[in-house]
Amino acid sequence: MASRIVSFELCGREVEVLVKPMTTLQFVLRNQLGYTGTKEGCRQGGCGSCTVLVDGEPMMSCLLPVEDVAGRRVTTIEGITPVEGLAPIQQAFVDTNAFQCGYCTPGMVMLTTALLDHNPAPSREEAVEALGGNVCRCTGYAPIIDAIEAASASATGDATRDAGVMPDRSGER
Ligand code: FES
Ligand code: FES
Repeated sequence: MASRIVSFELCGREVEVLVKPMTTLQFVLRNQLGYTGTKEGCRQGGCGSCTVLVDGEPMMSCLLPVEDVAGRRVTTIEGITPVEGLAPIQQAFVDTNAFQCGYCTPGMVMLTTALLDHNPAPSREEAVEALGGNVCRCTGYAPIIDAIEAASASATGDATRDAGVMPDRSGER
């Protein structure tokens, strides 16, 4: 089948790509646009390392034909990272040691971004549930949940939500 041009907004700028049918957003981001912050793990919807935001909603870019984001707003880890330093959510991951190899981290950060946009003060159970589709093989998840709480605390100014003040880890996986 013939290639076609797809246009969409990527991290605040309009982009156009020439793609074959059913080319995934993940492939386009990494191989045509150089946005390699979006990771490539299982390529079948099982790990979440490719998570990006489409119109603010987290989606696995390995399952998404790029045609489906035509005219929509796509945000990757590059789009939330300041020119200098780190975004507060990224800093929270650093502060709570929420990564080891780091391969899952961009997807986890994007998922956290969407979670806190919708629910600025999630419970630990809600945070665990939100991470349900994203796999981390290194951390055991507890530090990632801590990072979500720390990011929430910093955004809402609620010190009682700081990970060090809330040792209750019931509901973790
Ligand atoms: S690479 Fe997309 S879910 Fe694993
Ligand atoms: S930090 Fe290695 S997979 Fe999560």
